[in-house]
Amino acid sequence: MELSDSSHTNGHEGQPTRRDMLHVATGAIAAGGAAMVAWPLINQMNPAADTMALASIEFDLSTVAEGSQAKVMWRGAPLFIRHRTAEEIARAKKDDSAPDLRDKQTDEQRTMQSDGKAGKAQYLIMQAACTHLGCIPVGVTESGYLGDYGGWFCPCHGSQYDTSGRIRKGPAPLNLIIPPYVYLSDTLVKIG
Ligand code: FES
Repeated sequence: MELSDSSHTNGHEGQPTRRDMLHVATGAIAAGGAAMVAWPLINQMNPAADTMALASIEFDLSTVAEGSQAKVMWRGAPLFIRHRTAEEIARAKKDDSAPDLRDKQTDEQRTMQSDGKAGKAQYLIMQAACTHLGCIPVGVTESGYLGDYGGWFCPCHGSQYDTSGRIRKGPAPLNLIIPPYVYLSDTLVKIG
């Protein structure tokens, strides 16, 4: 027997034909099959627990002298770990309420641990990637700080970051990004 194929109604306005029902059923089966194929693929893309463990690093902060900065690799990209001077900290806190902060964060927020506990003001840990197009900004050099804010200067297009890594001038839209970290002791930090 031939099913109606010339209309989506069977003579009763708004009532689905058997053909409509077959389309719906076929579509549901196809969607279910696609989901079954997609799940193993998606599941394979999730990082394994051992990979995630490797994604964390521990760093001995006692190796960074006050007024200097270490550059360490984390998840394939560089981080800055700066041991700030009292003057740098004071300047960062003084600028907490500066009107030109375009990505408003206080210095206390920027040094907070990822578990929400207070951090250590002397250590600033940030991703070393300008938030404009990803160049590595320059911190203090032998001739002093480049730029007007005592922090970091991006040589690519001139973005300037202050001593808290906050964007103050230039095309970058956001502060230098703070990675998740917690202190394991006074001198040991776990990043990631
Ligand atoms: S990449 Fe830093 S200002 Fe453009």
